[in-house]
Amino acid sequence: MQTTDQKIALITGANKGIGRATAERLAGLGMTVLMGARDPGHGEEAAAAVRAGGGDAHAVTLDVTDAATVREAARWTGERFGRLDVLINNAAITGSGRVSPVDAVDQIPSGVDLDMVRAVFETNVFGVIAVTNAMLPLLRRSPAPRIVNLSSGGGSLALNSDPDGPLTGLPPSAAYSPSKTALNALTVQYANELRKDGILVNAAAPGYVATDINDHQGFLTPAQGAEIVVRLAMLDADGPTAGFFSVDGPVPW
Ligand SMILES: NC(=O)c1ccc[n+]([C@@H]2O[C@H](COP(=O)([O-])OP(=O)(O)OC[C@H]3O[C@@H](n4cnc5c(N)ncnc54)[C@H](OP(=O)(O)O)[C@@H]3O)[C@@H](O)[C@H]2O)c1
Repeated sequence: MQTTDQKIALITGANKGIGRATAERLAGLGMTVLMGARDPGHGEEAAAAVRAGGGDAHAVTLDVTDAATVREAARWTGERFGRLDVLINNAAITGSGRVSPVDAVDQIPSGVDLDMVRAVFETNVFGVIAVTNAMLPLLRRSPAPRIVNLSSGGGSLALNSDPDGPLTGLPPSAAYSPSKTALNALTVQYANELRKDGILVNAAAPGYVATDINDHQGFLTPAQGAEIVVRLAMLDADGPTAGFFSVDGPVPW
């Protein structure tokens, strides 16, 4: 086992987009980053790029819907590093493919394909439980464990239920948005369980970021989207838990 004072962070879905930008930032801050990717080739390419920039990065094959890869990722991390300091649950799908949210009309509740909803929840919600529970024994060995869940303003019930709010232009969604609402709920429940153990658990809203998930319609860069994720990953011991934050501050649930 490699013993190191360097913090160790695992990011799911780190081969591209916000996950990759988060890995780059955390590596730049001196963390060892374990870059989860369901495609080993894509993971290795991304990790090699971070290493080329001077960071300590390792590709980890991890499909959050595949229990065997989740188990193996936890086993390997434990064997190699003995602990985990930061878990970033970033991997997600829209269910509609690469579309801007305004085009996701196949998620309108009355006509939605239930199999699509199941697939979205499998990745965006159940995958988070699977990875978090597999990694918790390693997080408990960290002196300052942090969990960051990549949510979305689209998961906010307060914003969704405001007829004059910022989301009014979007078609109603029975898949992606509810999956992020469920993730917010899970964030609070995990935070409540783990508060006594000093494990801070928060949800991040990265803003509208140009990545594959929205066919690059977003107006922020992945590095800008990663900013709040990095802040929540680096919280001091007196930092918040059970919160939902964008780079501008708390987001209403
Ligand atoms: N972009 C935005 O405007 C925005 C706004 C709010 C929230 N978010 C959230 O930010 C997070 C990152 O999204 P992004 O914009 O960076 O999208 P992205 O570029 O499409 O990246 C998504 C990542 O998740 C991975 N992934 C999907 N299913 C997976 C699975 N079953 N197991 C492991 N990895 C899986 C993808 O891997 P593959 O390359 O193999 O597909 C990819 O690495 C997501 O949680 C998203 O919901 C994004």
